[in-house]
Amino acid sequence: MAKKEAPKIQTERLVLRPRAEKDIPNMIKMLNDDEVREFLGINPPRDEYSMLEMVRNRTETKWAVTLKDTDEFIGDVMIPEIAEDYLGEIGYRFMREHWGCGFAYEAVSAVIEHSKSTLHLKRLSAKIDNKNLPSKKLIEKLGFTLVAVLPESHLQGRVADVAYYSRIV
Ligand SMILES: CC(C)(COP(=O)(O)OP(=O)(O)OC[C@H]1O[C@@H](n2cnc3c(N)ncnc32)[C@H](O)[C@@H]1OP(=O)(O)O)[C@@H](O)C(=O)NCCC(=O)NCCS
Repeated sequence: MAKKEAPKIQTERLVLRPRAEKDIPNMIKMLNDDEVREFLGINPPRDEYSMLEMVRNRTETKWAVTLKDTDEFIGDVMIPEIAEDYLGEIGYRFMREHWGCGFAYEAVSAVIEHSKSTLHLKRLSAKIDNKNLPSKKLIEKLGFTLVAVLPESHLQGRVADVAYYSRIV
């Protein structure tokens, strides 16, 4: 049976679509950038082979974010965990040169809408390193509420003070 993949979603300036092999150079650039990686979990895979695995490991809830005009990869948004078709945990990463343009807000907003209208989720959560101010700012703009800061907690293989955010979809 063919593996399911994320549906295409269009916004004003962006197209969200499944990851493709042509995205690999920009994916490598993004995931090797110290500023992008600063508050993420364990070091992401960096070589081309592991990126290829990432591209092939398609699911219905992992999107590459691309510029509408050029189809250029600029980041990704995912809901890697969904519990009981009710609660999804959201994640996102953008290339450093595309921060400060509102692209993350635009892309994550579209995924939130999709999680409501198509996936019929009831609640979304996000776990953010408490020092990750850009991400906390974004998630608060998106209507998430800070539930708690969990001191010295598990964040994808790292120990960090974790801000746990939640939002009814
Ligand atoms: C978290 C992250 C995605 C935030 O990216 P961002 O570009 O700051 O987020 P936004 O899309 O909300 O853009 C916000 C900025 O764009 C500006 N902007 C410019 N044009 C805009 C437009 N048309 N619409 C909206 N905002 C716009 C806003 O004013 C805002 O700037 P400000 O923060 O100085 O006020 C980014 O920092 C990142 O990829 N970090 C590394 C990975 C990471 O930590 N991921 C999260 C793990 S939990």
